[in-house]
Amino acid sequence: MASKDHTDPARMEKIVSLCKRRGFIFQAGELYGGLNGCWDYGPLGAELKRNLKNYWWRKNVQERDDVLGLDGAILTMPQVLVASGHVGGFSDPMCDCLLTKARLRADQIEPQSGTVYHFSGASHAASSWSIERIYAVLVSGDNAEARASKTARQFYAQFLANKQVSPKELELVAGASEQVVDSTAYNPANGSLLTEARAFNLMFQTKMGASAEENDPSSVAYLRPETAQSIFVQYKNVLDSNRVKLPFGIAQIGKSFRNEINPRNYTFRSREFEQMEIEYFCRPEDGMRLTDEWLEERLKFYEEIGIPRAKLHILDVPDGERAFYSKKTYDIEYEFPFGIQELEGVAYRTDYDLGVHQKASGKPLEYFDEETKEKLLPHVVEPSAGCDRTLLALICEAFDEEELTDEKGKSEIRTLLRFTARMAPIKAAIFPLLKKNEDQVRISREIQKMLQPFMNVFYDETGAVGRRYRRQDEVGTPFCITVDFETLGEGGDDLKDTVTLRHRDSMEQERLPISQLLPWLLERIM
Ligand code: GAP
Repeated sequence: MASKDHTDPARMEKIVSLCKRRGFIFQAGELYGGLNGCWDYGPLGAELKRNLKNYWWRKNVQERDDVLGLDGAILTMPQVLVASGHVGGFSDPMCDCLLTKARLRADQIEPQSGTVYHFSGASHAASSWSIERIYAVLVSGDNAEARASKTARQFYAQFLANKQVSPKELELVAGASEQVVDSTAYNPANGSLLTEARAFNLMFQTKMGASAEENDPSSVAYLRPETAQSIFVQYKNVLDSNRVKLPFGIAQIGKSFRNEINPRNYTFRSREFEQMEIEYFCRPEDGMRLTDEWLEERLKFYEEIGIPRAKLHILDVPDGERAFYSKKTYDIEYEFPFGIQELEGVAYRTDYDLGVHQKASGKPLEYFDEETKEKLLPHVVEPSAGCDRTLLALICEAFDEEELTDEKGKSEIRTLLRFTARMAPIKAAIFPLLKKNEDQVRISREIQKMLQPFMNVFYDETGAVGRRYRRQDEVGTPFCITVDFETLGEGGDDLKDTVTLRHRDSMEQERLPISQLLPWLLERIM
């Protein structure tokens, strides 16, 4: 098993490059320089995402009697998010570098040791300019004092009215110096003092309604930071409009938005992303057991889409690190090339969510048990997965490079995405062996038309067949179908109306009657 710190930036670079080159993922607004933390899925990325979401829905809603679907609004009333605690508490502690204004996550600053030089101001005699302001710089190693003074001069120079004056010309008012160990009050990049940490709310706020007054609080709405809240808010409506009994779940796939301070690792931490969440309502005594059961369900799901169990890590989040209302939380983590990182959380949230909404709305959200004649506030187990993160894990897992040697001893690298047929964006590619052969083209087009209502297929007639295979390998197409001279009956009646079917992973080929293609493929892509 890989260690937590193991990373492979070269592999990640190749994946990012392939994703752009072959149309999986583009940066949003790239034409204008790009919108940080936002991504557009190209034609193949959109297919892959659709396959992932459809399979999640099929497994968690369609094939279960106890889970119903919901498609909630993205724009959310402040009342909902005040009650849930997001307005008051959904924040990261942030501080700013006094020199560069770079904003840093206070809880992610690497502790620094060294000498701190304090200053109380600076002046420029020639222009009679001076400033009184507390500043400090942490430095270690050679020429510490000179380097601290240089940084301090750059800091004070920001306040000069006359920008012609060089920082070097400033006279510093230096104070004491002191040794510090493991301090997080200074910017690790330049030693400059940071501001005190402040809570920075991660929600995107907007205004609703054409006539909304500039400062009218009733016009405020938020882009939801998670899909879960509309499930809690609609739980009673779902319960009353459907004949469901505890335990039952409500599932939702949809966009969520967080103004992440530091979007990073490609699509892993984005500002706009999709979640696939289930809130599973149950009796209190079943909460712990169901949390473990959902964990197993979710691990099975990842295996079924091509993320092996061996690459997943389960973090049993210890006491003190879980949300205060959670009695148990598992993080399901995957070995990304940039380290082991969270894909999904499976959390036992007790009756916290329904409790806060019941209290804030003043409306009863209790469940009436017909059999025991008992009223109770259900508890909740929440498997909450990230769609974009799972898609990234699928691509990282599928990416492979293989060295092949041809009959003449020449070697080449075959790049391929080993997607499961279930997830692959293109299920089959169809080639006429020769594009000038009208019958081969006609039959290929007929096969394309036959398969299209059931799956995404791709027709390609350009270049040598070997090159066409490579192009499909690179985007993860599991099967290639070639219509050749045998199909036309030139190899004898036995092979007439059969095609060559080539497997991506083994590169083995077999012949299959055209009439069997559809059931053969359907069996493998479901
Ligand atoms: N309702 C619970 C909830 O939202 P979370 O751990 O904040 O919990 C659940 O988010 C999942 O959503 C994460 O495990 C991750 O897969 C995904 N997710 C969260 N923030 C994300 C972001 N900024 N970018 C991409 N995915 C994100």
